Amino acid sequence: MVEGGRKTLSNVIHSQVQLHAGFGGVVPELAARDHLERLPGLVDLALERAGVRASDIELIAATRGPGLAGCLLVGTGVAEGLAAAWDVPLTGVNHLWGHIYAAMLAVPDLEPPLLGLVVSGAHSDLVRMPAHGDFDVIGRTRDDAAGEAFDKAARMLGLGYPGGPALDRLARRGDPRRQPLPRPSLPGLEFSFSGLKTALLYRLRDIGEPDDQTRADLAAAFEESVVESLLEKLDRALQQSPTAEVVVAGGVAANTLLRRRAAEVVGDRARLTMPPLELCTDNAAMIAAAGYFAGRQAATVDPSLGWAS
Ligand code: KG4
Ligand code: ZN
Repeated sequence: MVEGGRKTLSNVIHSQVQLHAGFGGVVPELAARDHLERLPGLVDLALERAGVRASDIELIAATRGPGLAGCLLVGTGVAEGLAAAWDVPLTGVNHLWGHIYAAMLAVPDLEPPLLGLVVSGAHSDLVRMPAHGDFDVIGRTRDDAAGEAFDKAARMLGLGYPGGPALDRLARRGDPRRQPLPRPSLPGLEFSFSGLKTALLYRLRDIGEPDDQTRADLAAAFEESVVESLLEKLDRALQQSPTAEVVVAGGVAANTLLRRRAAEVVGDRARLTMPPLELCTDNAAMIAAAGYFAGRQAATVDPSLGWAS
């Protein structure tokens, strides 16, 4: 429940981590079914925590894509039902836009134009946002997304699901200089993480049975390579076309090293906004904010939407 696109009244999250943990990753069918079972109760809870009644609601926003088709269908289906029952308009929202709008919830006077870096489980995108609802992708990954790379590296290091946060924790005890890994560097604003992933795989094969400290050192080196390669492009984009506002968002923006280094790299060239941790990873408040500022009339599901409206 969000007021005026800026103020979070409630942001209820049901984590499916337990549901998928035994499988080592998200099982789409289970995810969709769990959405269906949980969503009505979560809506009630969100209303209760916000202290508002259904009759106070003026707009419903639902994610159109990109995402898992089954989950998107459940979300828009429930939203359509509520919109009809409560007689309020329904708007369709792009998931990736939502990550940028999470920053608007954190900083009340943040407005476009801005430069954004959205790093999630499936995307590592550099975007320029000249105005609300207007996004121009200027850099993306050639292969894996940053979050996907973290998750795969975590699995190689014997960490459970979800991998990103576990790798973050392990890396805090490591020294990246003891097990240096290559730093991906493509020309322009493109990212690539598959070579780094292979380098970690080969290193682990060479080592055989890494002890605890070596695993932590490898986690730190891997994290450093991903973070520095992300920030190298952010820095380049900022140099090419200076902007007063920079947003780094998406699940990977919860990463400890990325948060510290992004602030150093941006420095005083722009104001950097990284949403608080609970607004970095997927949540409903960011979708409500995006719906308020930039929602589209149709809530038609498109699982492979990309950044298109
Ligand atoms: O945006 P998000 O919650 O879901 C998608 O839209 O994909 O991002 C999830 C991704 C996962 O790959 C997860 O491992 C990663 O964000 N992640 C992290 C951290 N917290 C979440 N990666 C590195 N360090 C973290 N602290
Ligand atoms: Zn996301």
